[in-house]
Amino acid sequence: MRKGWYPVLLIAWLLSACGNDANQPTSTAQGGDPKRGRGIYLSACVACHNSDPSKEGPIGPAIKGSPKELIEARVLRASYPPGYTPKRNTHIMPAQPYLKDALPDLAAFLNEGGKKGAG
Ligand code: HEC
Repeated sequence: MRKGWYPVLLIAWLLSACGNDANQPTSTAQGGDPKRGRGIYLSACVACHNSDPSKEGPIGPAIKGSPKELIEARVLRASYPPGYTPKRNTHIMPAQPYLKDALPDLAAFLNEGGKKGAG
């Protein structure tokens, strides 16, 4: 009986070891993948926003901690959620609706807690 458990334990250990790796989304409340979100951010947003989203960018403001509704309104429609007071009164940022499916990942990245993400 005892002996029979070894393979089971080994498999369980292997599975948990893999699970700690990059495959496991360090999931946040949004359920997005912050690593993927970072890649999208670096390709679609840093022309204007800082590669460290907690800092002002060359054109766009700091956006670290932006709620998902705000990111969605901005990225899909270049608008704001009802009642939101924008950081800037300009209307420079274009909508990028093709990023619809990436919103959870972007939100996860921008809301990533205290980690050094953006390098
Ligand atoms: C062409 C430049 C540009 C690009 C590209 C851009 N932004 Fe912006 N963003 C801005 C500017 C400028 C503002 C300030 C409002 C305005 O002028 O539109 C802004 C505002 C924002 C805000 C609202 C900040 C606040 O609290 O008022 C969010 C959130 C945001 N951007 C997210 C993003 C994300 C996410 C991406 C990439 C998918 C992105 N932006 C790409 C220029 C840009």
